[in-house]
Amino acid sequence: MRAVRFHEFGTAEVLVVEEIPEPRAAEGQVAVQVSAAGVNFADTIVRSGCVPIPLPFTAGFEVVGEADGQRVIGSTMGGGYAEHVVLSAALPVPDELDDHTALAVFGNGAAALGIVGAARVQSGETVFVDAAAGGVGSLVVQLAKSAGATVIAGVGSAGKVEQVRALGADRVVDYLQSGWTENVGPVHIVLDTVGGSVATAAFTLLVPSVGRIVLAGTSSGEPPNIEPAAVLSKSVSVIGYASALLPPEQQAELRVRALELGRAGDLKPILGQVFPLDRAADAHRAVESRATVGKVILQL
Ligand SMILES: NC(=O)c1ccc[n+]([C@@H]2O[C@H](COP(=O)([O-])OP(=O)(O)OC[C@H]3O[C@@H](n4cnc5c(N)ncnc54)[C@H](OP(=O)(O)O)[C@@H]3O)[C@@H](O)[C@H]2O)c1
Repeated sequence: MRAVRFHEFGTAEVLVVEEIPEPRAAEGQVAVQVSAAGVNFADTIVRSGCVPIPLPFTAGFEVVGEADGQRVIGSTMGGGYAEHVVLSAALPVPDELDDHTALAVFGNGAAALGIVGAARVQSGETVFVDAAAGGVGSLVVQLAKSAGATVIAGVGSAGKVEQVRALGADRVVDYLQSGWTENVGPVHIVLDTVGGSVATAAFTLLVPSVGRIVLAGTSSGEPPNIEPAAVLSKSVSVIGYASALLPPEQQAELRVRALELGRAGDLKPILGQVFPLDRAADAHRAVESRATVGKVILQL
């Protein structure tokens, strides 16, 4: 079968399409003929070598496809950018969801539910969401809106503003423009997946005493610089969130809820670029250059 692998860590060039043996399902596992694989920012982090994994490695952590005549979706510990994958657990895909939409709500929706849940967003609060046009961020905006919050969305280019406004954001700011924090103003909550200077600046906007910031990603490549002394003097909460560290049954519960919200039309993902398997490197370049909106997939 064809699979996208890397034999060394590095830039997108290390991704190569190779013929490798089809994996065999062990007792209790599900063999899936893959029809599409999700491309996540995390895939680029793993490829660049930030996580110790044995090489060569087949990229990709989520797939949709067919198993025993049924459409299924699931996540894997790697091996997703391939024609066949073996999963330890798979969920049926609701008929209402095409492959792209299912991949867009499955993992990213679960992460968005976790992030919004970690902040305990209350109706009437003001929330700032960064990378709001992204796979996760675009769903965070929608969930915070449905919780009754006023949502100020942040993006890194003027070209993404209208798409994010269409998601229901009350205001959209471009944080590559100087003085952007003045256009946001005080907020009760920051939901951050960018880290670095954006999250560092957003932290300063938190309303003292009640403010919360959820740190859930570092797509800028850097964690935010938040001094413990500032946390103390503002009396705010800094909350870390990582789906992968939840117990498996909690992860599964969030994924089921995300698929159901997608099926019901209560989460409407932005369907981003579609690449063929042999252009996985281009997909990674697009994600890393901030050129994508919504969910990017590889179509097999
Ligand atoms: N904690 C969790 O459980 C969890 C789960 C899933 C994903 N995540 C994290 O959530 C983030 C979003 O993941 P995603 O797959 O949905 O990706 P994505 O949002 O579709 O893409 C990343 C976005 O980050 C923004 N960004 C800001 N600075 C950047 C930089 N220097 N280089 C590249 N991008 C930059 C870009 O949006 P702008 O140009 O608009 O700024 C870019 O489009 C990632 O950090 C990921 O690791 C966390």
